[in-house]
Amino acid sequence: PMISLRQLLDHAAEHGYGVPAFNINNLEQIQAIMQAAQKVNAPVILQASAGARKYAGEPFLRRMVEAAAEMYPELPIVLHQDHGASPAVCVQAIRSGFTSVMMDGSLMEDAKTPASYEYNVDVTRRVVDMAHAVGVSVEGELGCLGSLESGTAGEEDGVGAAGVLTHDQMLTDPDQAAEFVAATGVDALAIAIGTSHGAYKFSRKPTGDILAIDRIKAIHARIPNTHLVMHGSSSVPQDWLGIIREHGGDIRETYGVPVEEIQEGIRHGVRKVNIDTDIRLAMTGAMRRAMAKDPSEFDPRKFMKDAMAAARDLCIERFEAFGCAGMA
Ligand code: G3H
Ligand code: 13P
Ligand code: NA
Ligand code: ZN
Repeated sequence: PMISLRQLLDHAAEHGYGVPAFNINNLEQIQAIMQAAQKVNAPVILQASAGARKYAGEPFLRRMVEAAAEMYPELPIVLHQDHGASPAVCVQAIRSGFTSVMMDGSLMEDAKTPASYEYNVDVTRRVVDMAHAVGVSVEGELGCLGSLESGTAGEEDGVGAAGVLTHDQMLTDPDQAAEFVAATGVDALAIAIGTSHGAYKFSRKPTGDILAIDRIKAIHARIPNTHLVMHGSSSVPQDWLGIIREHGGDIRETYGVPVEEIQEGIRHGVRKVNIDTDIRLAMTGAMRRAMAKDPSEFDPRKFMKDAMAAARDLCIERFEAFGCAGMA
């Protein structure tokens, strides 16, 4: 059945696990995530960005997720609006049946320009008022995760959405987080703790202190009843990068967030773990490999089938690593 993010993350907090929130854009990604969830009996968060709606069209996305709920009636499913850029976008999502919305008021409506704290509180509180009236959960964001395009704020040199900042300035402030939650009533809060969006997060191999764990602990201590969300949580698997490169792909050296660090975050209050890039890499690697293996093949289902299997296996790994298996 479809449930709210609050319902799912309350259960996750009670049992000490984290839930991967996978981005969806098409049939194959939804199938792969659902097959993985069924395999390990895990609850599911499917999230759609503005880009996903533009790609698939809102009715297609909604109906495909309804189909997933019909095919897997035993699995709890949250349908979440990822990075809502305005209250209007969130209202649209609520009307179309999403059970959770993210009001990303850390940026202005252009999803580029950093917003003031006051703007963030204002738009987020308005969305919470509307969403809670109809049982829909709300995720807010506080901090500087870097621009969605460049994804550079996680890098040590720190050229993020707000210009050049020191590492410390880019992290969410615990006192401000407490103030923000009190002023808005959000169910979940995305925090800046050293990650960024996309494939190019770190140019050197992480040596074990990518995440600002002390910051996560401090924020969790201040707002223990607000579920923490980690964006930019792809691990950027080196084996998939290798397969992509072996088959004509061009991706420069890059590293993501190690799964062990995410597990450490989960031990300290992170409950929703956003993953998009890893599924993209696995599907692209599998498709490139399948096409190279049989150049005479032209039935796209053959490539898609491999892509789906690759995404499914990646999702199974994440469900298991984050403690979701058996929790549906
Ligand atoms: O937060 C960013 C997600 O990876 C969505 O990406 O805007 O290309 O759909 P997208
Ligand atoms: P990745 O790019 O690391 O997969 O992050 C996705 C994300 O945060 C979506 O909101
Ligand atoms: Na989100
Ligand atoms: Zn994000």
